[in-house]
Amino acid sequence: MQVDSEPMRDELSINELRRRLAQVLPGLLQNTVPSDPPNGEVEPAFFARLRGIPTVEVCRGGEALGVSPFFIPAEALDGPTAVIHGRETLMLGSNNYLGLTRHPEVMEAAREALERYGTSCTGSRLLNGTIPVHIEFEEEIADFLGYPKAILFSSGFMANQGALSSLCRRGDQVFSDRDNHASIVDGMTGFGVRYVRYAHNDMEDLEKRIKSFEPGPPRLIVSDSVFSMSGEIVKLPQLMQVARRHGALVYLDEAHGLGTLGATGRGAAEHFGLSDKPDLVMGTLSKSLAAVGGFIAGPTVAIDFLRFCARSFVFSAAAAPAVAAAGLAALRILRREPDRVEAARSNARYLANGLRQLGFECSSGTVPIIAVQAADAMEGCAMHFALVQAGVLTNMVLYPAVPKNEAMLRISVMATHTRQHLDHALEVFETVGKKIGMIGSGDARRRERAVK
Ligand SMILES: Cc1ncc(COP(=O)(O)O)c(C=O)c1O
Repeated sequence: MQVDSEPMRDELSINELRRRLAQVLPGLLQNTVPSDPPNGEVEPAFFARLRGIPTVEVCRGGEALGVSPFFIPAEALDGPTAVIHGRETLMLGSNNYLGLTRHPEVMEAAREALERYGTSCTGSRLLNGTIPVHIEFEEEIADFLGYPKAILFSSGFMANQGALSSLCRRGDQVFSDRDNHASIVDGMTGFGVRYVRYAHNDMEDLEKRIKSFEPGPPRLIVSDSVFSMSGEIVKLPQLMQVARRHGALVYLDEAHGLGTLGATGRGAAEHFGLSDKPDLVMGTLSKSLAAVGGFIAGPTVAIDFLRFCARSFVFSAAAAPAVAAAGLAALRILRREPDRVEAARSNARYLANGLRQLGFECSSGTVPIIAVQAADAMEGCAMHFALVQAGVLTNMVLYPAVPKNEAMLRISVMATHTRQHLDHALEVFETVGKKIGMIGSGDARRRERAVK
């Protein structure tokens, strides 16, 4: 996409911001966007076909104009705050829900593992990359969640992708929430498995779809526990009932549920007080556990199978020592200090209530993810940019994560945000929201939002 201005990081007036966004955002609604190779060079067809893709061109255009909401580098990260463009910024965009990335014990565990094992295991767990930290993590997470065994992958994405692609077979009946994470979708596609998408968190639709198949083949229902963009919680009690009525097993992705749901952060089954738990649970170290990595917990037979047959486990290097050690230390803190879970949730409720009172249309903050709806991409991107200028970082959610003409700001809250941080966030949201016209414009829709 051609743009007529130089990149700029300086403060922009709202009018100038809107002018720049208006140059690129309409591209989101198109099927292809004009895009010329730089300097008119001829490109091989292999690369030329990568041009004109609306999301890519819009983001490239936004970058060229200095108004992209993505890839904003942080010069420092201190948990609740960061330094962005040289300015102290309130971090409301991180999945560091329990605020453990700078906890002294987590930092120390990482340092110690770095000293003892070096920077990398330089090999797969199967052959030469297993260290005691990996095994301890696996034993402790399995014990924490109440499953016989667990396996630690190098990322959450690889855990979902590797587990689902090797556990599911051709002919299985696999049912997946249509809003499930990309790593689940990738795990189910490409290996000849036919899966059926059911309407988002709609247990009637799930049951209807299961009933449309002849019973017999193995059945698996796969769902996120907390949906990552909206913060919505899966209707697990009903999902378990449907599953058991129809002889299906349940695979639950607790990436955002671990450390945020239930009195002690054990996830959705604890949140709902269920004795009948999902058969397999996936989780990640990259959110509440302040590290990077992913795991599957479940019956020994399944975990042993994954240890030898999950390709993203067998054919990829083990989680780096310092990273795995940080995750293990964070898990131990979560077990020892469960109050952190409620602290994160109470911060989320406080912020969500405040935002609603200001007139923003947002989710309730039951978990530390708050989705703030914008009228459209222009309003959302303008709000996001103006917030960054005012020293508050949130996450911008655009198509394809939401439908083409929609946009939202995804706020995430930490246990270590103080009330001062949150009050400051509310002040900034109010000032910026009024400037952008996201609140306080007096139209009926906005008044409706305030009373919801
Ligand atoms: C629901 C869900 N599952 C899996 C993942 C992948 O986790 P990771 O970032 O550890 O690879 C994510 C992360 O974005 C997620 O939100």
